[in-house]
Amino acid sequence: MICVDALEAIKTRRSVRRFKKEKIPPHLLKEVLEAGRWAPSSRNSQPWRFIVIADEDLKRRVANATTAGRFLAEAPLGIAVAVDTRATRHPAEDGAAATMNILLAAHALGLGACWIGSYGSSYEEEVKRMLGIPEGWALLSIIALGYPDERPASRRLDLKELVYVNRFGSKEGLKEVADLD
Ligand SMILES: Cc1cc2nc3c(=O)[nH]c(=O)nc-3n(C[C@H](O)[C@H](O)[C@H](O)COP(=O)(O)O)c2cc1C
Repeated sequence: MICVDALEAIKTRRSVRRFKKEKIPPHLLKEVLEAGRWAPSSRNSQPWRFIVIADEDLKRRVANATTAGRFLAEAPLGIAVAVDTRATRHPAEDGAAATMNILLAAHALGLGACWIGSYGSSYEEEVKRMLGIPEGWALLSIIALGYPDERPASRRLDLKELVYVNRFGSKEGLKEVADLD
């Protein structure tokens, strides 16, 4: 089993939208789902459920309902992260933390994944109906998952553009506190 170091995984993960046909072994999927389970949540509410979208026809219908996630149809599996909005004061953050853990675990295990945003989207209710997600629950994300068939490039803003000290906009002391100048 491939398993890369946490910092390495964070820096080398990319959103993968092209997948090999190869199926995901159940023991790997279990590890990916375990990572979701161990995400932090507000008051440890663990308000999530993970719906593995394994049925081909269902996966295609969900993919087609989205605006920017059509590639899900060609992924071996999807995972929908549903969050009980009554069980937590922070449904978006909790569900996002679980989603991120899943993406990182997938990458660490040699899989590829892409977050398909659905929380508050125009298609959230339609996909919720397809997946039988009850009233009071939000569809936080849909994740396309499989063995990667591409190595996309990505870029980030410079760290020194992103970090302030003590006050928004202030870079005073940045060198001393974070070795950034
Ligand atoms: C909340 C959220 C929603 C996203 N929704 C989509 C989506 O619907 N379709 C898609 O192709 N990528 C989606 N992405 C992936 C982003 O496009 C991607 O993370 C970003 O371009 C940076 O690329 P990287 O992940 O490879 O570094 C989403 C990411 C986040 C965090």
